[in-house]
Amino acid sequence: MGDIRLTWLGHSCFHIDYAGTTVLIDPFITGNPRSIVQVKDLNPDAIAVTHGHGDHLGDTVIIAKRTGCTVICIHELSQYLKSKGVNTLGMNIGGTVDHKGIFFTMTDASHSSSIDEAGLGVDGGKAAGFIIRAGDVSLYHAGDTGLFGDMELISRLYHPDVAILPIGGRYTMDARDAALAVEILSPKIAIPMHYDTFDVIVQDVNIFISCVKSVSDAEVIIMEMGCPIIL
Ligand code: NI
Ligand code: MN
Repeated sequence: MGDIRLTWLGHSCFHIDYAGTTVLIDPFITGNPRSIVQVKDLNPDAIAVTHGHGDHLGDTVIIAKRTGCTVICIHELSQYLKSKGVNTLGMNIGGTVDHKGIFFTMTDASHSSSIDEAGLGVDGGKAAGFIIRAGDVSLYHAGDTGLFGDMELISRLYHPDVAILPIGGRYTMDARDAALAVEILSPKIAIPMHYDTFDVIVQDVNIFISCVKSVSDAEVIIMEMGCPIIL
């Protein structure tokens, strides 16, 4: 480890810098009451989008059209984004794409995926997560998901060093379920996301920390928005 600079930009949005190649995941900036960055300041080489909900697709279209960057996402979302003039790398669950030496494998997620910005009922395919591999680091961004048994397969197949998991409850796993996910995934590092952004997903991270401690040796890192860590 030591090659990846990971920065949390709030909610499920993370910025990855690997040897100068930058990737944004789920860039939800506009409408995020806790956001600390401005859309105009984001210039990624690629954007990975887990699903079509507004708090994940977020500002993808605006950023991708301004920068010309590639958007990595599931086929149905890719078709929608192409119709908006966005460059995409469409894929599906179980597949892998290579973007400048960063490998993205799409994983299952137990969640829905309408494209909110397209209007009611526009299907975004399936919700997904990503295993992102760069250098010798394997990082799992679970997207929005409830706990599901095939996290066991994700663990066996991809041995994530880092697991980034939603803990906010209501729309995803809560802190207790996410701790069980850590037990199943057995990463070295667990990072919570998708909590406290809105009143309905307020969660006490200390519950996550103590529940993880009781089932796993993983180190829990509570990231501070805008403060990078090196993986
Ligand atoms: Ni969602
Ligand atoms: Mn969400």
